[in-house]
Amino acid sequence: MSQPPLSGIKVIDFTGVQAGPACTQMMAWFGADVLKVERVGVGDVTRRQLRDIPDVDALYFTQLNSNKRSLAIDTKTTEGKEVMEKLIRDADVLVENFAPGAMDRMGLGWKHLHELNPRLIFGSVKGFNDDSPWSDLKVYDNVAQCAGGAASTTGFWDGPPTISGAALGDSNTGMHLLIGILTALMARQKTGVGQKVSVSMQDAVLNLCRVKLRDQLRLERVGYLEEYPQYPNGTFGDTVPRGGNAGGGGQPGWVLKCKGADTDPNAYIYFTIQEQNWARTCEAIARPEWVDDPAYATAEARQPHIFEIFDEIENWLADKTKYEAVDILRRYEVPTAPVMSMKEIAYDPALRASGSIVEVAHKQRGTYLTVGSPVKFSDFTPQITGSPLLGEHTDDVLTELGYNPEAIADMHAKGVV
Ligand code: COA
Repeated sequence: MSQPPLSGIKVIDFTGVQAGPACTQMMAWFGADVLKVERVGVGDVTRRQLRDIPDVDALYFTQLNSNKRSLAIDTKTTEGKEVMEKLIRDADVLVENFAPGAMDRMGLGWKHLHELNPRLIFGSVKGFNDDSPWSDLKVYDNVAQCAGGAASTTGFWDGPPTISGAALGDSNTGMHLLIGILTALMARQKTGVGQKVSVSMQDAVLNLCRVKLRDQLRLERVGYLEEYPQYPNGTFGDTVPRGGNAGGGGQPGWVLKCKGADTDPNAYIYFTIQEQNWARTCEAIARPEWVDDPAYATAEARQPHIFEIFDEIENWLADKTKYEAVDILRRYEVPTAPVMSMKEIAYDPALRASGSIVEVAHKQRGTYLTVGSPVKFSDFTPQITGSPLLGEHTDDVLTELGYNPEAIADMHAKGVV
């Protein structure tokens, strides 16, 4: 392919932290011209958060803002707003994830944006949707994980609601927004008119929790959930309990200990007992006698003593590393994988070869490691480049907009840029 898929699409990235930047970063990977608009002298807060090198953009920022340009401008000044409005007139997409009401307070609400440029697509992330009683709240990832149903269903039954390490509230919402924006771009091809696309973090988390909602409805009808550890020996209340590491589908599974777990906290695999593969599973773990034993032969018969079965499998795993175990189990088509530590992920040669983990150049850092595109195309390979320094492209952008060097110098002197 000569041109990246989104080449020619101009995106104003008026976002911060993670949800918005994750969305616009993916647009940039796919070829859009993404201009990050940031506060003068401050920038996206993540530039300074959890820094590992003094005075150098934090990895939090660099990992969410690759392939972008940066314009530092005070959009609350008359001149700054004028620049913003020029950009808007010429853009295809504007994405923001400020606190509720911030865009209106800046005089850049949807009605005004639509008047300035009827073709513009306006992508917006908030913690809660407009109809929510909590629509005025500021929200970060974990807040959304709690509000969207993920936390109440994650963790162990004897512990508190638990947050996932995966950014279900943040990056996940950004991905939902991206789907919405691309859909609106397709709609615009037919109508010529842009629209506002809103995604709330609560809704985006909920969209990933649909099997838990399924379980709530099942629980209300039959009073128990047969694939949960609480069945049949424990008790159920009136809401979906935390199921530990139980599988969410109809196939029981659990995280099982392997050789080395005494010293390595991640020496585990996830083991799934696939109903249609029971005979081969028994063969794999050297328990052929279980195939026809009435206490083991059906899922129903196994469930009352499923943890004894997992204990037996752990005994089989005791002299095998997680990688050795997976190598044996794959031959018997057992759905399994090692629990990968972040260190293993960072240095995994296969993830590097596929471009899912990449090392990119950065003006201050030399290089940095980051997550590459999880989306693979047959006719296009995203090229990941480093994140911009704060205001690195301010003068270029102002020149492109027609400002002469004197006007640009004047804006610098006044602190507008
Ligand atoms: N020039 C001038 N002012 C600017 C600016 C610029 N270039 N860019 C932003 N600002 C202003 C905003 O207008 C806002 O001003 P106001 O408070 O007077 O209206 C101010 O900077 C701060 O905005 P914001 O970053 O939204 O506030 P915050 O740091 O207090 O809150 C969040 C951060 C993330 C909690 C909040 O933005 C939020 O809830 N966002 C929606 C949900 C979300 O995306 N959460 C984060 C997921 S990663």
